[in-house]
Amino acid sequence: MLSSVEITRGFTAPERDHVAALYWEAFGRKLRPAFRDADTGRAEVAASLRPGNVLVARRDGRVVGVCGFRSGGAGAVSGGGTRARLGLLGALRAALVLAPLRRGDVPGVLVLDGLCVDAGHRSAGIGSALLTAADALARDLGLRAVQLTVVDTNPRAEALYRRRGYTEVGHGDLGPLAGVYGFDRYRTLRRPVDAPSPARRPA
Ligand SMILES: CC(C)(COP(=O)(O)OP(=O)(O)OC[C@H]1O[C@@H](n2cnc3c(N)ncnc32)[C@H](O)[C@@H]1OP(=O)(O)O)[C@@H](O)C(=O)NCCC(=O)NCCS
Repeated sequence: MLSSVEITRGFTAPERDHVAALYWEAFGRKLRPAFRDADTGRAEVAASLRPGNVLVARRDGRVVGVCGFRSGGAGAVSGGGTRARLGLLGALRAALVLAPLRRGDVPGVLVLDGLCVDAGHRSAGIGSALLTAADALARDLGLRAVQLTVVDTNPRAEALYRRRGYTEVGHGDLGPLAGVYGFDRYRTLRRPVDAPSPARRPA
């Protein structure tokens, strides 16, 4: 039941690998080209996750959803130390390949950086609860809106955001790089935090 879901900012040290595994399961397809192999990528995500840049949903004490966001000029997966772990060439490759995917800060706006829910817990309202928590966080931080990016290969996620009142404020495409990341076009969607709360889905 959704009532047993708790959302907090940050995760504990023992939860780090599990949070990283969720993140990699959802976004590994587009992150994978940045690394020598999938194991390296997964380990790098685990090492680079910044607890202060992540909202975590737990059900029965277990992490079942994650919503990264940009804060303090950094994204959810940008902990530093990449060069020490991957070496100069590995770090260079990661920086170059990830550059087209990076989103910058937007003044006055909470920029989300990776929303994902454990595949076994989807369609139960956890993603929506994380988005509601992101609205609350933005309000607490004195920001006026929440923003995210959705790729053209994810129409169900986009439908979820639009139902919640997100509207398009920009778009782009990766052109010849589309094959590398597995998607071409993406949209930037934004929702003012003082917009009316979305109607609950009928049970
Ligand atoms: C998108 C995602 C975070 C939604 O989380 P969720 O907990 O299932 O969300 P909710 O239960 O609050 O809402 C579910 C709605 O989200 C949409 N949705 C998007 N992708 C979905 C998926 N893979 N499975 C189920 N629902 C999905 C549907 O419209 C669904 O509505 P429905 O249940 O009436 O069909 C989750 O599906 C997920 O982690 N997907 C993989 C990673 C991803 O695509 N992240 C978004 C990047 S922009």
